[in-house]
Amino acid sequence: MHRSFLVVLSAVAANLGLASAALFTDPADILADKQYHYIVVGAGPGGSVVASRLSEDPQTNVLLIEAGPSDEGVLPIEVPYLAYELQPNTTHDWNYTTTPQTGLDGRAVIYSRGRVLGGSSSINVMAYTRSSRDDFDRYAAVGGDQGWSWDAIEPYYRKLEHLVPPVDHHNTSGQVEWQIHGTRGPLNITVANAPFPIDSHVVATTQELSEEYPYNEDMNSGYPLGIGWAQATYGNGIRATASSSYIRPVISRPNLDVLINTITTKILRSRHSDEAGVPVFSGVEVAQSSTSPTFAFNATKEVVLSAGAINTPQLLLLSGIGPRAHLASLGIETVVDLPAVGQNLADHPRVGNQFSVASAQDDLGDTIGRNSTLFDELLQEWEEKRQGVMANGGTNHIGWLRLPADDPIWETEEDPSAGPAAPHYEFLFRPAFASSIPGTPTPATGNFMTVLAVLVSPTSAGSVTLSSASPFAPPVIDPAFLSTPFDVYTMRAAIRSAARFVLSAQTWDGFVTGQGAGFADVDLNDDAAVDKWARAQASTIWHPTGTARMGGCGYVEEGSVVDPDLRVRGTEGLRVVDASVFPFIPAAHPQAAVYAFAERAADLIKSGRRFC
Ligand SMILES: Cc1cc2nc3c(=O)[nH]c(=O)nc-3n(C[C@H](O)[C@H](O)[C@H](O)COP(=O)(O)OP(=O)(O)OC[C@H]3O[C@@H](n4cnc5c(N)ncnc54)[C@H](O)[C@@H]3O)c2cc1C
Ligand SMILES: *[C@@H]1O[C@H](CO)[C@@H](O)[C@H](O)[C@H]1NC(C)=O
Ligand SMILES: *[C@@H]1O[C@H](CO)[C@@H](O)[C@H](O)[C@H]1NC(C)=O
Ligand SMILES: *[C@@H]1O[C@H](CO)[C@@H](O)[C@H](O)[C@H]1NC(C)=O
Ligand SMILES: *[C@@H]1O[C@H](CO)[C@@H](O)[C@H](O)[C@H]1NC(C)=O
Ligand SMILES: *[C@@H]1O[C@H](CO)[C@@H](O)[C@H](O)[C@H]1NC(C)=O
Ligand SMILES: *[C@@H]1O[C@H](CO)[C@@H](O)[C@H](O)[C@H]1NC(C)=O
Repeated sequence: MHRSFLVVLSAVAANLGLASAALFTDPADILADKQYHYIVVGAGPGGSVVASRLSEDPQTNVLLIEAGPSDEGVLPIEVPYLAYELQPNTTHDWNYTTTPQTGLDGRAVIYSRGRVLGGSSSINVMAYTRSSRDDFDRYAAVGGDQGWSWDAIEPYYRKLEHLVPPVDHHNTSGQVEWQIHGTRGPLNITVANAPFPIDSHVVATTQELSEEYPYNEDMNSGYPLGIGWAQATYGNGIRATASSSYIRPVISRPNLDVLINTITTKILRSRHSDEAGVPVFSGVEVAQSSTSPTFAFNATKEVVLSAGAINTPQLLLLSGIGPRAHLASLGIETVVDLPAVGQNLADHPRVGNQFSVASAQDDLGDTIGRNSTLFDELLQEWEEKRQGVMANGGTNHIGWLRLPADDPIWETEEDPSAGPAAPHYEFLFRPAFASSIPGTPTPATGNFMTVLAVLVSPTSAGSVTLSSASPFAPPVIDPAFLSTPFDVYTMRAAIRSAARFVLSAQTWDGFVTGQGAGFADVDLNDDAAVDKWARAQASTIWHPTGTARMGGCGYVEEGSVVDPDLRVRGTEGLRVVDASVFPFIPAAHPQAAVYAFAERAADLIKSGRRFC
């Protein structure tokens, strides 16, 4: 009865010209006795994929709740080149900051998270990297479930991708292997929409120094090692997000309601436990602000938490699921004593290493940044044709590298990477001055390029805890950056390697004149000087994971939060589908793996599988 009523409602709305009848901006507008099968909290890649796939069945009613506003019509979300304007401290950011980081000389780090339909995929910098085969095979081993292995997940990558030609129609032969990608999925990806002056030199270095820096034709084959062309989440010159690809195209489904501007404040327990005495979660409490009324919605089947690696553990803790002592310290009653909730926070620290470039023409980013006439012209080109530099992101090449097999570090340290196909560190090449400290101004004069060095196999483990029992208080975020000898060592090696790439290959002679900007003063021969630079410059590349990690079927030994079905241990009716569940951080930009995990999770939910 409700459904037919809603169909009429949406028909009326369509007649009135409303774009999306199922988009609610106020919980008060949802009928009080509306019955949902599934409630999904958070509209990032995790939640959007699940809500979209579950609502493919017209008999299944889904409510997707997002704290932030709609992403529609927001220019910097649409224009790839403007990605860096979306954070920090904007209307689409949670504006978080970490605790003072001991490994970073006591500095607190700005910690942006997307707060908008599409989640962080609407504000991220769009790198699309699938991770190595070894990363997924380790997930399968940890979960004891071959369904998380590379061979089982790779078809999901093909299902979710739509590889489209670049907007400048250049010949992509040798830059991407079309046959390993999907071309019919919802998420548009492409390779290099516009050329950068540094591109040919990056590629030439892979020929000159091919032993250390081999060329990789497609880093998304499961074997990412080497240097290659970056793929990114845009197509036809427009950013592709979890919202634009999974939610907006299906928002007219009568069985999918999307509620924005609304914060889920708690997951609700039903009055009854199941026969075994296990607590059943069957709804959520929501509010639009700390001073507005609260509302409750029920899910007859499940609540799926997809609030991301910071807010998912926050919500679990607020709902009494987590380490008993921490909950007790805030006066929260423990419903399930789960010590690993909020623990094992892993993230990738990055350091921007600048080089001086001889010619202003080769410093594309700063040439545009310093000339508003040129900027306006390029934006106009995008508006008219969806082409040019604005149709492209900030990086055309990425490198994935390992410490050598005979590195002395292996005398004292176990290799933390997932296996020989997985990298320890990463390069990102930017044709501009780029700093890893948000807000650092570009020098008024001089021309630059930057190689960002990123530690992708960290052994540092941090945490997310509550500062207060109020859902409106920011959580305490401690990524524990550079807090282990391995991480300090590997970041030092990565910075030196970045300098070697640019300063020891002849192709850069005359193009690059040496280390530049703040990096100019760093003596690369001095361990202490390189470490000082790393501790002063490192910040997040925005990849928090692991705070509700997946483990195998035995739970106490595993120290995990969810089982291989992604169900929260010790509960009924509650799952986590987002970046929180990775038991180890993917040695890659994680959005691709979140989309793929969520695609499989949707199938697991539909099938009702109970693995354990
Ligand atoms: C600035 C930035 C740049 C990045 N660059 C890249 C990149 O280039 N490539 C890449 O692969 N990855 C990148 N990432 C990371 C990537 O975007 C994330 O890993 C991915 O989006 C995680 O998906 P998710 O579903 O776990 O969470 P998110 O995308 O963070 O989505 C969570 C959603 O839940 C909502 N939410 C949270 N709490 C509540 C609540 N209580 N009630 C209701 N809703 C709530 C949030 O507002 C958000 O919309 C970047 C991230 C950022 C922030
Ligand atoms: C939701 O569930 C609670 C407790 O199980 C119940 O009291 C309430 O009436 C339900 N609300 C709706 C709208 O069904
Ligand atoms: C965030 O922006 C607000 C409003 O513009 C400003 O008052 C505040 O200082 C900014 N905070 C940070 C950390 O930049
Ligand atoms: C983040 O800061 C911006 C700028 O001050 C503000 O508009 C926005 O509302 C803040 N976000 C949150 C979640 O408070
Ligand atoms: C693209 O380049 C490859 C390799 O150089 C070449 O074989 C192919 O014919 C080119 N394709 C087109 C359409 O020009
Ligand atoms: C993705 O690309 C296809 C084909 O070019 C296009 O039709 C579609 O609108 C794009 N989708 C999104 C969400 O941008
Ligand atoms: C700025 O860009 C415009 C448009 O391309 C160009 O005509 C002008 O010469 C540039 N100004 C400077 C100072 O380079």
